[in-house]
Amino acid sequence: MSNFESKIDAEDSVATLQRPDKALMWTRGLEKSYRKGSLAVPVLNGVDLEIEAGSFTAIIGQSGSGKSTLLHLLATLDAPCAGEVHFNNRRIDNLPAKQREKLRNEQFGLIFQFYHLLPELSTLENVLVPKMVQDGFFSYLKNKSNYLKRATELLEMVGMGHRTTHKPAELSGGEMQRTAIARALISDPSILLADEPTGNLDEENGDEVMETLDRLRQKENLTVVMVTHDNALAQRADAVIRLISGKVA
Ligand SMILES: Nc1ncnc2c1ncn2[C@@H]1O[C@H](COP(=O)(O)OP(=O)(O)OP(=O)(O)O)[C@@H](O)[C@H]1O
Ligand SMILES: [Mg+2]
Repeated sequence: MSNFESKIDAEDSVATLQRPDKALMWTRGLEKSYRKGSLAVPVLNGVDLEIEAGSFTAIIGQSGSGKSTLLHLLATLDAPCAGEVHFNNRRIDNLPAKQREKLRNEQFGLIFQFYHLLPELSTLENVLVPKMVQDGFFSYLKNKSNYLKRATELLEMVGMGHRTTHKPAELSGGEMQRTAIARALISDPSILLADEPTGNLDEENGDEVMETLDRLRQKENLTVVMVTHDNALAQRADAVIRLISGKVA
């Protein structure tokens, strides 16, 4: 990191608000609107939330209520129009792009509804992709045996140990999602941010993915934030954030 970047980091990440007790991640006054022609369409109108370390939080709300928008702001994939996101005693919504990317790579595990696996790679290779991207060629080769060990262990933990050489097209939806979960964990993130991870699965596969997440949460001491519109799934959570009219109800 250059001096310039570290200076920006030090200045920008000064906590401007009081940290709530025990919160690993928290927001204050988050606002987001999208432009539609000359019109600004408001989606989030001042979201305040806290996510406790080690907890399982569900974000629920009707279709179009802003759940995915909120998750993207938490993951620093998008920036709020107003308000702040804090993680690990640091303000993160206004970090420079490079630092947000580093934060995502090292600390956040991201899971989406449509898996986003690379079709030409095997299950095992897909799980290794984040390490290839983060490390660069030579560093990756140097550490490859460790990564292979960890990727194999993760695939076994998500019940995919018998499918390491399969390509995504040869897997069921639940198997693809469990592979995506293993990939999200390869960098040992401290928080998992999942957007409807079971939304595209039938009940049986959805239950299997949820059980996998539950098991991993305990074993790996993970904090999980999951968007869902399934109330039964939300009932498994320690905390439920319900979005209504762009605010936490
Ligand atoms: N890129 C965009 N440009 C314009 N409007 C957008 C954009 N992304 C989302 N919106 C609008 O913001 C609102 C919230 O969208 P979001 O995807 O966050 O909802 P959601 O709660 O995740 O819905 P769902 O349950 O259907 O996934 C919607 O009304 C949507 O039309
Ligand atoms: Mg959504």
